[in-house]
Amino acid sequence: MGLRYLADTRRLADGIRAAPSGLFLRELLESPAVVGAVWPSSARLARAMAASVDPRSDGLVVELGAGTGVVTRALLERGVPAERLRVVERSPAFARHLRRRFPELTILEGDAARLSEVLDESAQERPVDTIVSSLPLRSLDPAVVSAVLDQCRLLLAPGGTLVQFTYILKGLPAVGLSEGFSVRDDPIVWANLPPARVIVLERAE
Ligand SMILES: C[S@@+](CC[C@H](N)C(=O)[O-])C[C@H]1O[C@@H](n2cnc3c(N)ncnc32)[C@H](O)[C@@H]1O
Repeated sequence: MGLRYLADTRRLADGIRAAPSGLFLRELLESPAVVGAVWPSSARLARAMAASVDPRSDGLVVELGAGTGVVTRALLERGVPAERLRVVERSPAFARHLRRRFPELTILEGDAARLSEVLDESAQERPVDTIVSSLPLRSLDPAVVSAVLDQCRLLLAPGGTLVQFTYILKGLPAVGLSEGFSVRDDPIVWANLPPARVIVLERAE
C-alpha cells in the first residue's frame, strides 16, 4: 500500500511536469466552465479510460474534449489505430495544439453537442463503437450536456461503450446519463488531481 501510493504519487508528479500547463491554464482562465478541470488528466487516469476501449473492434473510437491530448496519447498506446480514432475539441487553441502533437490523427474542431454534424462523413464510413469523453458534464450548460448525451445515444448502437470521467466519486455526473445506458464499471483513480472516477457505460438495447 505504502509503496504503491509512493509510485502513484511519483507518476502524478511526472504527469504534472510533462503537461503543457501554460496552454491549459490560459484556456481555464478564459472559459472555466468549459474546461471544467484544475489540471490536465494524469497519465494514470488516461490509461484507466483507455483500458475500456477494445482496440481490435472495427468501428470508430471518438474522443470528446481532448484538451491537451493526454487521453488521446493513452488511446494510441492502447493500440487504437490512428485511422479509427476521431478527436473532437471545441477550443481552437486546444485543437491547434492537438494537430501539432498528433499530425497522424483526424482532429475535428467542433461542438460535441452537434457530434453527428462534426463527424460528418466519418460516421458514414464506419459505425461508432466507443465514445471516450473528458467533457466536464457538471460545469457545462445543462442544455449542452443534454444535447451531447442525445448524440451519444444516437450514434452508439446497443452494446456500444461510453467512457466518461468525473471528479465525483459516487453517483453520476449528469442526470440524463442513466437514460439508455447501464454502468458496467466505475474504478476510482487516486493518482489524479483531484482523484477521479472512470464511469464505463454500455448502450442498452
Ligand atoms: C477536462 S478538460 C480536458 C481534459 C483533457 N483530458 C486533458 O487532460 O487535457 C475538458 C475539455 O473539453 C472541451 N470541451 C468542453 N465543451 C466541449 C464541447 N461542447 N465540445 C467539445 N469539446 C468541449 C474543453 O475545451 C476541454 O478541452
